Amino acid sequence: MAKIAFLGSGNMAGAIVDGLLAQQTLTAADLVCLGGADDTAAKLQARTGIAIAADLPELLATAGTLVLAFKPQHLASADPRLAELTRGKLVVSILAGKKLASLQRACPHARNVVRTMPNIPGQIGAGVTAWCSREPLSAADQTVVDTLLGALGRVVAVPESDLDAVTAVSGSGPAYVFEFAAALRDAGVSAGLSRAVAEQLAVETLLGSARLLARKQIDPEILRDQVTSPNGTTFAGLQRMAARDFRGLIKETVLAARNRSEELSRDS
Ligand SMILES: NC(=O)c1ccc[n+]([C@@H]2O[C@H](COP(=O)([O-])OP(=O)(O)OC[C@H]3O[C@@H](n4cnc5c(N)ncnc54)[C@H](OP(=O)(O)O)[C@@H]3O)[C@@H](O)[C@H]2O)c1
Repeated sequence: MAKIAFLGSGNMAGAIVDGLLAQQTLTAADLVCLGGADDTAAKLQARTGIAIAADLPELLATAGTLVLAFKPQHLASADPRLAELTRGKLVVSILAGKKLASLQRACPHARNVVRTMPNIPGQIGAGVTAWCSREPLSAADQTVVDTLLGALGRVVAVPESDLDAVTAVSGSGPAYVFEFAAALRDAGVSAGLSRAVAEQLAVETLLGSARLLARKQIDPEILRDQVTSPNGTTFAGLQRMAARDFRGLIKETVLAARNRSEELSRDS
C-alpha cells in the first residue's frame, strides 16, 4: 500500500494513526503528517514515530492517499496547491459536514474522493464510521478505506444523502449516551446510593448491556423483554419511561440534530 498522508495532525488523525499502528497493518514508515501553525504534527511524530513533512509538496510526494483531518472551517482557506498536488491520489475527508462536491472542488483531480463521519469512540478503536464516495471505489482503494477507517472501529457505507441522519445518530450519539449515563448516575444518588457507586453502576451497566446486545445480535426489545417480569421492578421503571414518552424524546433529539446538521452543511 502506498504511503498515507495526514493533513491535520490533531485528535482524529492521532486516533487513526494509533489504530493503524496497533493493528500492525501498516508501520510508522508508511505514514506521514503535517499540521497547522501549532506543533500538533511534531507531537504526533514524537508519540508515534511517523514522519513529518516540511510542507504540502513533501507531504504528498510519496503518498497515494491523503486524509483531510483539519477543522472543517479551514477547507475554504486550504492551500490552493492541494488541487494539483492531489492529482491521481485518493482523498479521504473526515471533515464534519463537508460535502463531496466541496471536497471535489478542493481536489478536482483526485482519483476518488471519500467523505466520512467518524465518532468519538474511534479514539479507542470502538467507533463506527459511515462513508460515501464520489464514485464506486476500486478494489485497491476499498482496501485502503477499510484499513484507514477500520483503525477507528466499525465501518458502514451509506449514500451521501444519509449523512445528516448519520451525524445525528452516531456522530452526536455518544453525547446522548454520556448524558444518559449521567442521568442514571444522578438517579442512583436520588435512590440512596453514593455518587461513586452510582457512577460505577451506571457506566458498567451501559457498557455491559451494549456488549451483550452486540454479542447476541437480536433486537433490543427482545433483551428488554427478557429482563422484564410482569409487574416486577423493571416493568415499573419502563412504565415511567413510556408515560414520559422516552422514545418520542429520543426521536425529537435525533431529528433536531439532523435538522441542525442539514443547516450547518448547507452550501458546505
Ligand atoms: N473529534 C471527533 O470526534 C470527530 C468526529 C467526527 C469528525 N471529526 C472531524 O475531524 C476533524 C479533525 O478534528 P480533531 O478533533 O482531530 O481536531 P484537532 O485536534 O483540533 O486537529 C486539527 C488539526 O488541523 C491542523 N490545522 C489547523 N489549521 C490548519 C490548516 N489551515 N491546514 C491544515 N491543517 C490545519 C491543526 O494543526 P495545529 O493545531 O498544529 O495548528 C491540527 O493538527 C474535524 O474536521 C472534525 O470535523 C472529529
